[in-house]
Amino acid sequence: MGKTVVASAFGGPEVLEVIEEDLPAPGPGQVVVAMRAIGVNPVDYRLYSGEFGADPALLPVRPGMEGSGVVVEVGPDSEEVESEEVESEEADSGEGGSEHRGVRVGDEVIVYTGTGAYAERVLVSAQDVLLKPESVPWDSAACLLTAGGTAVDAVTAAGVGDGDVVVIFGAAGGVGEVAVQLAAAWGARVIGVAREKHHDFLRTLGAVPVAPGEGLSERIRRIAPRGVDAVIDTIGADEVVDDCLALGADLERVVTVVAFERAERDGFVAVGVGTKASDWSRPETRPILVDLAGRGLLDVFVGRRFPLTEAAEAHRALQQPHPRGKFVLVP
Ligand SMILES: NC(=O)c1ccc[n+]([C@@H]2O[C@H](COP(=O)([O-])OP(=O)(O)OC[C@H]3O[C@@H](n4cnc5c(N)ncnc54)[C@H](OP(=O)(O)O)[C@@H]3O)[C@@H](O)[C@H]2O)c1
Repeated sequence: MGKTVVASAFGGPEVLEVIEEDLPAPGPGQVVVAMRAIGVNPVDYRLYSGEFGADPALLPVRPGMEGSGVVVEVGPDSEEVESEEVESEEADSGEGGSEHRGVRVGDEVIVYTGTGAYAERVLVSAQDVLLKPESVPWDSAACLLTAGGTAVDAVTAAGVGDGDVVVIFGAAGGVGEVAVQLAAAWGARVIGVAREKHHDFLRTLGAVPVAPGEGLSERIRRIAPRGVDAVIDTIGADEVVDDCLALGADLERVVTVVAFERAERDGFVAVGVGTKASDWSRPETRPILVDLAGRGLLDVFVGRRFPLTEAAEAHRALQQPHPRGKFVLVP
């Protein structure tokens, strides 16, 4: 038996409850991971809020897309895949082990669950776990894939490359901070729009910070008099979208991760599940993120930790003004 957090009705965080449940034994291609930390994302509460529909057939909603932990059981065929692949890799490379080897009991991993990560143990496909680099702490590892995947997606869709001037709105948020680091790593000059309290932090990531609000276009023009090549919006409010469009970048290089209707209406790009721009890329972003984090080129900053059983409190706090950094749940 293990604790799992579910929403048994649609509504606010008060509908979350902690249940005890047994996991089935892992089948072919599956593994069980004992979670050490679980990443909290805004979409977790949006899923049971009713915003995406409130069909009772979808209950209970199982929030949580990602985490980090230790593999405690593997399905029967994982062991076969493991020995075959390790042997052939070792034979090919002459080195022990490889990133392609199967999943083993005891592996420290980063796991993408899609749903249901708010649990002491999760049952997932072996394809959805990646080895956690030793240097990446459990908490940061737990928050890497969802916001990070969105950021890779957005920066790629915006065509960010060497010498570009890129403006990122919400630059100190979960998606924004990764987008800033990626754009800087890929050679762009990054202007990060964020409230002043985040400016020192943004400078440490290599961005030039700018405060939002009245006069923003003029402030950005002073920093980048030759204009802006690409814009990424991680906020989505109408007035923020207006500010994005006012910067004059080509519409195919203006990307939002939130304002899907505005993107459709105004002819710029939205990335997210189900959009044309990003369907192909999410699983492919994961090894890129883990590799960058393992090499110390990408940090995910954790702001608060809550016990797993206080997921509702974490969701309330995330919906209020809160300190910078990702939230994690700890079983
Ligand atoms: N399309 C996708 O696939 C996808 C995937 C993941 C997330 N998302 C969405 O992306 C959005 C951002 O997610 P997140 O995890 O990055 O959230 P987050 O960590 O809460 O970050 C949001 C950031 O936006 C800033 N902000 C909000 N309103 C602002 C304004 N008017 N002016 C300037 N800054 C403002 C916040 O700053 P303060 O701290 O100063 O308030 C915060 O730094 C959410 O709506 C989420 O649902 C989409």
